[in-house]
Amino acid sequence: MAATDKTIVIGVTGGIACYKAVELVRLLVKAGHRVQVIMTRGAMEFVTPLTFQTLSGHPVASETFNLTQESEIGHINLADSADLFVIAPATANIIGKIAGGIADDLLTTVLMATQAPVLIAPAMNIHMYDNPILQENLRKLHRVGYHILEPAEGFLACGYEGKGRLPDPEVIAAEVDRLLRKNDLTGERFLITAGPTREAIDPVRYISNRSSGKMGYALARAAARRGADVVLVSGPTALACPAGVRLVSVTTAVEMHDAVNKEFGAATAVVAAAAVADYRPVATAEQKIKRGKGPMELRLEPNPDIVKALGEHKNGKLLIGFAAETQDLTANAAKKLREKNLDMIVANNVAEAGSGFDGDTNIATILDRNGGTQALPLMSKDDLADRIYDHFLALKSGR
Ligand code: PMT
Repeated sequence: MAATDKTIVIGVTGGIACYKAVELVRLLVKAGHRVQVIMTRGAMEFVTPLTFQTLSGHPVASETFNLTQESEIGHINLADSADLFVIAPATANIIGKIAGGIADDLLTTVLMATQAPVLIAPAMNIHMYDNPILQENLRKLHRVGYHILEPAEGFLACGYEGKGRLPDPEVIAAEVDRLLRKNDLTGERFLITAGPTREAIDPVRYISNRSSGKMGYALARAAARRGADVVLVSGPTALACPAGVRLVSVTTAVEMHDAVNKEFGAATAVVAAAAVADYRPVATAEQKIKRGKGPMELRLEPNPDIVKALGEHKNGKLLIGFAAETQDLTANAAKKLREKNLDMIVANNVAEAGSGFDGDTNIATILDRNGGTQALPLMSKDDLADRIYDHFLALKSGR
């Protein structure tokens, strides 16, 4: 296998699954990558550094204050040289430390300093994995942009059966491949919308919907990782702006419309994942509306259809819309594709379990202007974002 120009730093922490990290290093070296291993003390109880050193062809780093290691490898050099950082296996302890911002050994210190994407592959006992503190730590790491590889299910070394196994080395190597794959959106300037809009009724009440912004933020994260310039116009969400993305925060549909129009000129493509309110109250009360005795009527007027207006003046830009449906998914989505003059539409059934609003997963069908249809299974919103960009690139290149 020809050498790649990629350096992968692998952090190995102390769990029985360390033996699989040995095979992972072998696979990555075989694929042509430069692999540099950092071991924690716990990991060295399971496998010797000599094993990793022999397979990787590079000295193993383990001590922050070892002068020989520091002069030969250097912890900042390790952090800077990484194209990808992988922690496999990742124990509950290391996950807790990273989530808590602790840097008390070489691995956590290098991790704190790296700007490379980080893939974390947890492996532990099923009850440890289900522990709400561990789960909250994983959610926190995911929110700030770390990639988390779900553990596999099956027989665990502790004797239990269930979720917690480190995925097979081939599975981790494939994920490494996927994360390293691309800078294939370099040169693109994506304008992405995300989240709900809020339409005020009075100073304390508003009309909105269940959008969390997760789909749009996953799209922004993936586009930035693949080399695009990204501006994210987002309604109110609880999410952190992905690294390398410029965030424009808005509240109402009219504000989103104005922000999108302002950014449209510089964009090469638009992805409209926002759940824009179709209607807003005709008037917003200046004071809190008091409770009356009888029913209350609220008059609504239509908001601008942001993406439809863009479709009328595309100027060579590619438009990707979403269709949130509860029935006749593809027929309704195909109608929106036509009527809004889109190039692609991503249809999701928001009434289906695992799909649509709020969760971390989605089930979608991609339709394009050439009649292409791609029905995708349940997957994470991050994975779906990548599939949408793969389809986008195929459409652009006429494949
Ligand atoms: O945010 P999450 O919790 O992760 O949920 C993700 C999602 C369900 C919101 C997302 O996957 C999704 O389906 N987004 C589109 C929601 C929607 O408003 O769909 P729609 O079928 O009503 O609109 C069709 C398209 O027109 C969308 O691209 C929408 O952004 C756009 N639109 C709609 C109304 C409007 N006034 N202006 C618009 O631009």
